[in-house]
Amino acid sequence: MTDTIAIPHSDERRSIEQGLDAYRALPIKQQPHWPDEAELERVRRELRAAPPLVFAGEVDMLRDRLAAAAEGRAFLLQGGDCAETFAGATADNIRNRVKTILQMAVVLTYGAAMPVVKMGRMAGQFAKPRSNDHETRGDETLPAYRGDIVNGYDFTLDSRTADPERILRGYHMAASTLNLVRAFTQGGFADLRQVHSWNKGFAENPLFARYEALAAEIDRAVRFMEAAGANFDELKGVEFFTGHEGLLMDYERPLTRIDSRTGLAYNTSSHFQWIGERTREIDGAHVDFFSRVRNPIGVKLGPTTTPADMEALVDKLDPHREPGRLTFITRMGARRIRDALPPLLEASKSLESTPLWVTDPMHGNGITTQNGYKSRRFDDVVDEVRGFFAAHRAVGTFPGGIHVELTGDDVTECLGGSEDIDELGLESRYESLCDPRLNHMQSLELAFLVAEELRDAGRVRERAAG
Ligand code: PEP
Ligand code: CO
Repeated sequence: MTDTIAIPHSDERRSIEQGLDAYRALPIKQQPHWPDEAELERVRRELRAAPPLVFAGEVDMLRDRLAAAAEGRAFLLQGGDCAETFAGATADNIRNRVKTILQMAVVLTYGAAMPVVKMGRMAGQFAKPRSNDHETRGDETLPAYRGDIVNGYDFTLDSRTADPERILRGYHMAASTLNLVRAFTQGGFADLRQVHSWNKGFAENPLFARYEALAAEIDRAVRFMEAAGANFDELKGVEFFTGHEGLLMDYERPLTRIDSRTGLAYNTSSHFQWIGERTREIDGAHVDFFSRVRNPIGVKLGPTTTPADMEALVDKLDPHREPGRLTFITRMGARRIRDALPPLLEASKSLESTPLWVTDPMHGNGITTQNGYKSRRFDDVVDEVRGFFAAHRAVGTFPGGIHVELTGDDVTECLGGSEDIDELGLESRYESLCDPRLNHMQSLELAFLVAEELRDAGRVRERAAG
């Protein structure tokens, strides 16, 4: 129903622009206290004048891709750090993360014979919501760490004081990260004929053998297609989109612009933004602001979400019932998903809206280990993914994607997986400043499992069709 979005006239454009500031009068959560308002205003002004990071046309293309996923014709793979850090924006880190996502996408595409929409939690995933505004260590209480775009992780007053200059640094980090991501995904690195080389440089593991075997099959298929006349030089690049939690309004608002082509508002900080579980109140600032941009928007839904909450979000964020516009990212927890998700799916069937349903099997499965690490069990992640597919099978809706916190490196942050990381093992390479991420191997293992689920889901559909 895209035709309901008409191109606005100039006075309408003015009111669109003004509407973007309506959030300022609404209750808002999870924003830092900036000590220096004049400095903040200077930063906002500089950011308003800075070039966009993504273009409206790319955003529209993503909306089309997500529409296909919502209708069961594609699958979204969204992954990256819980929180990107400035120090972590190195070429090696970025390359390994992109490589991991490409490998997972190959496993999914080949295993399930379905196009995979690839999106990084990258190039802007800097701001974090926190359960408490403050953190206490011993007898000292300081502002909580809210991500590198706000303050520093070091536990000193100086580092924990919100610094607007960090917003600009975040913008430049996002720009350089995106530049490298574009180079990797367009410059030949993502060429399917390189599918073996993505596996190089990692330790021996049964999973690699499994990936190698799949890569060999793909090689054979590529050679066959080339012999039959297909031109793989034209397929050298892959589409790769960026997304992050739309949280820090002093970053999101200045980067939101009226597109000269259409006269509509686009948030040019990334292709996709999602509203977190903590900031999705229907009358709050975040929902209002993101209801006014053309980007496809995600909303996290936790286990206490009611069908009425979900319906209100659909009405507010997708009033035109546009496929690809709205993504629900459910993060129920392995123990809750089988009960909590089906009523929402059932209710969505009567809304004439086709939200894209994505599972985040990470955020509902946090634990603290005996030795004091924030962790997640790989088995719980897997169990939530299985519960997600089961719920969609039961209700007859499409399981449209997966949203995971991952890194391309061999960190030890989540328990289990094929290397069987145990609590003591967490001590060897725990690097996340925020939530624990799947490492490279756990990510691949998860991809093989999702591919199986997707293949089964496809079979069920084929049987149903005829
Ligand atoms: C996140 O995605 O890092 C996050 C904070 O998730 P949620 O809003 O689901 O808690
Ligand atoms: Co997280």
